[in-house]
Amino acid sequence: MKKSMVIGNWKMYKTVSETVAFIKELAPLVENSNAEVCLAVPFTSITAAVEAAKDTNIVIGAQNMNDASEGAFTGEIAAIMLKEIGAEFVLLGHSERRTLFHETDPYINRKVIKALEDDLTPVLCIGETAAEREENKTEEVLQRQLEECLSGVGEEPASKLVIAYEPVWAIGTGKTATPQMAEEAHAFIRKCLTKQFGKKIAQGLSILYGGSVKPDNMAALMQEKNIDGALVGGASLQVKNFSAIIQCC
Ligand code: PGA
Repeated sequence: MKKSMVIGNWKMYKTVSETVAFIKELAPLVENSNAEVCLAVPFTSITAAVEAAKDTNIVIGAQNMNDASEGAFTGEIAAIMLKEIGAEFVLLGHSERRTLFHETDPYINRKVIKALEDDLTPVLCIGETAAEREENKTEEVLQRQLEECLSGVGEEPASKLVIAYEPVWAIGTGKTATPQMAEEAHAFIRKCLTKQFGKKIAQGLSILYGGSVKPDNMAALMQEKNIDGALVGGASLQVKNFSAIIQCC
């Protein structure tokens, strides 16, 4: 059986000392968890987080990377740099990167390919805006994002992907998609992945829901057939909330 997965996306929160304190407090609470417990921490915290998470079941990753191996790209970080310091996965295409930093599907596609090449698990984030949902364009948007962001990815590397469905209108707003709404989108995503990579791979991929996940809505989301876990922003910043979400798996 596929293991469920909960990823905390800390965004631009927590210093190194806060990171270490958080992991020390979280580790004993999740040591018997059925879910894979992951934290996407700021670049500056990765080394300390990996060290603090040693001998625990917490996996550390990054929130972004550049698509090149190296070069004159001031302020950017390459996949191999993340890998070298112990990051195991990287969030790609988060809606905040798309809107605030103008990342496009073709650019995200290059990052996905680079992450796979350099053995980092890409967690590809997709999702529609409120306007797109109102215009009944949710499926069209999800299909386009999947096709463009995963273009050129072969079947074998595709088996290493994680997909996060994050309706943009639900991120940081307190408005969660209902379990039914989320399940509909997840089932559609699974259908698109089946078309792209075949049934066996599509069934094996984890599709996480993200957008205002809290301890009190996680259990209902997890009842749905195609929801394999969650990508959690705000509620991953407190040990109490984050561990309560993990307990729902
Ligand atoms: P949120 O963020 O849980 O605070 O809505 C989710 C995300 O941005 O990944």
